[in-house]
Amino acid sequence: MKRILVTGGAGFLGSFLCEKLLATGNEVIALDNYFCGNKKNIEHLFSNPRFEAIRHDVTQPIHLEVDEIYNFACPASPIHYQHNPVHTTKTCVMGAINMLELARNVNAKIIQASTSEVYGDPLVHPQNEEYFGNVNTVGPRSCYDEGKRVAETLFFDYHQQYGVEIKIIRIFNTYGPRMSINDGRVVSNFIVQALRGEDITIYGKGDQTRSFCYVDDLVEGIVNFMDEPSAKGPINLGNPREFTILELAEKVLKLTKSKSKIIFSPLPQNDPMQRQPVIEKAQKLIGFSPKIELESGLEKTIEYFRKML
Ligand SMILES: NC(=O)c1ccc[n+]([C@@H]2O[C@H](COP(=O)([O-])OP(=O)(O)OC[C@H]3O[C@@H](n4cnc5c(N)ncnc54)[C@H](O)[C@@H]3O)[C@@H](O)[C@H]2O)c1
Repeated sequence: MKRILVTGGAGFLGSFLCEKLLATGNEVIALDNYFCGNKKNIEHLFSNPRFEAIRHDVTQPIHLEVDEIYNFACPASPIHYQHNPVHTTKTCVMGAINMLELARNVNAKIIQASTSEVYGDPLVHPQNEEYFGNVNTVGPRSCYDEGKRVAETLFFDYHQQYGVEIKIIRIFNTYGPRMSINDGRVVSNFIVQALRGEDITIYGKGDQTRSFCYVDDLVEGIVNFMDEPSAKGPINLGNPREFTILELAEKVLKLTKSKSKIIFSPLPQNDPMQRQPVIEKAQKLIGFSPKIELESGLEKTIEYFRKML
């Protein structure tokens, strides 16, 4: 049995990670400042004696005796990370330093939730891990994109300078139950609009593409990579099946049987046109191969939002 810290543990991905790590017999500490996470996401775990939750902001140091750290604390949707961009950068950078210092002090292995956003608006397609990215340093997305890039740098520097055992995953669009209702991410947005009978808003013409990974597939990949003995990454994790945003909207309309209309709004600044991971590295290292088709993942997600609304 390991004692495992999950920062951002009350968030969408963090809560599924806590569940999975408890299910395999570990002790789990969820750390969160509840800025955009929700206690409801983890309240079903409170009765488990191997589970604890701590209210804490990763921009402040903390000492905990743990064997592993999953550093997931960070607002992930533009609405949330642009709300207080200075704090977002601090969460990425100081959060990484504080968690790496903790890992160094207690000799814990640490994995960083990085993102496909480190590729920015990519000039190569699809994106493999060798691509350095095309990122604006001074745009509205920079606090998140550049913050995550610095965090990756810090992880490698702590490894090289202090021998900390590190891992980095670059997560591509992931969806599923427990995403926030109002955070403006495309899958939750479309589902909520469709269920409420509101117009479905597509930014741009809807020909921009994204690849969508269901949360269960992703979480399995994250834990398998953490357990892999030596590779540091960064590795891409996501589902390489690519869909246009228009296709996604049409699928949501079909599955919710909604009468909502699709409307088009201007594309936000620096919104990437294409996003698709190359996952060969993850396939070779941990046999990563997402199994859940978009339609069946959407059905589970729609069921969750129906209950929430
Ligand atoms: N979901 C995705 O598609 C996706 C894609 C790429 C990367 N990621 C990364 O995965 C991680 C989790 O994403 P998510 O989708 O679960 O987002 P989320 O917003 O649901 O969860 C993030 C959690 O971190 C907490 N948090 C934020 N700032 C904090 C701070 N300073 N101190 C402590 N807690 C803090 C929030 O309250 C929330 O519970 C993030 O680091 C994100 O960048 C997610």
